[in-house]
Amino acid sequence: MVVPVGVDAAATRLDALQVRCMTCGTVQPGARPLNACPVCGGLLDAVVPLDNPLSPEAFGVGLPPWAADSGVWRYRPLLPPIPDAAIVSRAEGRTPLYWDERLSDYAGLRGGRFGVKHEGHNPTGSFKDRGMTVGVSHAKAIGARIVACASTGNTSASLASYAAAAGLPALVLIPAGNISGGKLSQTIAYGARVVQIGGDFDQALALLRTLTATYDVYLSNSVNPFRLEGQKTIVFELLEQLGWRVPDVIALPGGNLGNTGAFGKALSELLQVGLIDKLPKLATIQAAGAAPFAAYHARGYRDYAAVLAETVATAIKIGNPASVARAQRAIELTGGFVTVVSDDEILDAKAEIDRVGIGCEPASAASLAGVRRLVREGAIAPGATVVGILTGHVLKDADAVIAYHLGDRDGVTRPGANRPVTIPAEIGALERTLADALQG
Ligand code: F0G
Repeated sequence: MVVPVGVDAAATRLDALQVRCMTCGTVQPGARPLNACPVCGGLLDAVVPLDNPLSPEAFGVGLPPWAADSGVWRYRPLLPPIPDAAIVSRAEGRTPLYWDERLSDYAGLRGGRFGVKHEGHNPTGSFKDRGMTVGVSHAKAIGARIVACASTGNTSASLASYAAAAGLPALVLIPAGNISGGKLSQTIAYGARVVQIGGDFDQALALLRTLTATYDVYLSNSVNPFRLEGQKTIVFELLEQLGWRVPDVIALPGGNLGNTGAFGKALSELLQVGLIDKLPKLATIQAAGAAPFAAYHARGYRDYAAVLAETVATAIKIGNPASVARAQRAIELTGGFVTVVSDDEILDAKAEIDRVGIGCEPASAASLAGVRRLVREGAIAPGATVVGILTGHVLKDADAVIAYHLGDRDGVTRPGANRPVTIPAEIGALERTLADALQG
């Protein structure tokens, strides 16, 4: 772009920011906080000017030094035009993709394979960092004075960290007693103002939306179209790792459904710029006790009804997801699946992922549990190539690990429980333990 003399380049880029309503198509300036269409109330998409065709050689080029190591800003040609000076990055993304035959077997794949993309390897231990680097950069670009979110724990940890990086105050609303200790500690440690709500996540988000409708507070939940742009890069990076060869299925847990929506947008953009020529099916997996989208999908997208959510996977304990319409678009675009798994299925799948040395938090394991179910039901062929997204790190919810392996979840010991043993400090006792360990 040619910048006329005397015109500030950053200001020119801000004018280039736009959002488009998913429902009525109205385009609005994007250089302000906007979380719903002012015309019809619909959800918004950030507008991304796309080059067609786009070469992968355009990735990672021309980045400012403070974003040069980011696996999000690497895909800048597929992101909204946020000015360099506003970018707040912590070298997020660049997460590993692991293949493990034991997980393929567990999923029931024969001839096919199951890989996991581990988003727990982000700076604060979850995929939220990919969204937050773009959301907080947008907030900084437009001069926000305070950033805020409601959260089941990962969004709050991530926002607290990125707000601290940007030098902005952060306000977070969490459901009291319903987020893991690890996530709460992170959010406190990174210096956010933590407000515990005597209600669930859905109430916390509704309250915050009421606040941000009146006050100049930058909302960082996934209704924010700029935050979701960062989450598209999970798909970009995965496809690049696969040499732009499209897997049959990408499976992910569904809570507030921002990720499902972001994945759909990412795939449709990759198709538009010619980097892929077909689509994988998206499989969104919900916990059975928090599955309003799965029920809506099963009813042919008629009579949407929120639920009172209950699941051991607290990250996805959400009864009224904000991005239902985005998720529907993504599932329809890819001819994908939506299914549910029980808490026991989630915890057993998590134990399997943990046992092979990879590890993840409970919500993440819904991806493997869901694929196992879809293979068993014949929806996914045993020869398929499937990638599951592990959304959070194993240490995010240490209590869930202890409860599972030490058997104090409803007093029941799970089949693969790995109980620590306690012995006297004597060599004889240690020798007997060694003999046991060698026997497996
Ligand atoms: N997995 C983890 C580990 C999460 O933290 C979340 C959402 C999801 C999956 C679901 O993703 O909402 O895009 O469908 N956590 C939010 C939070 C709600 O506040 O941390 P989604």
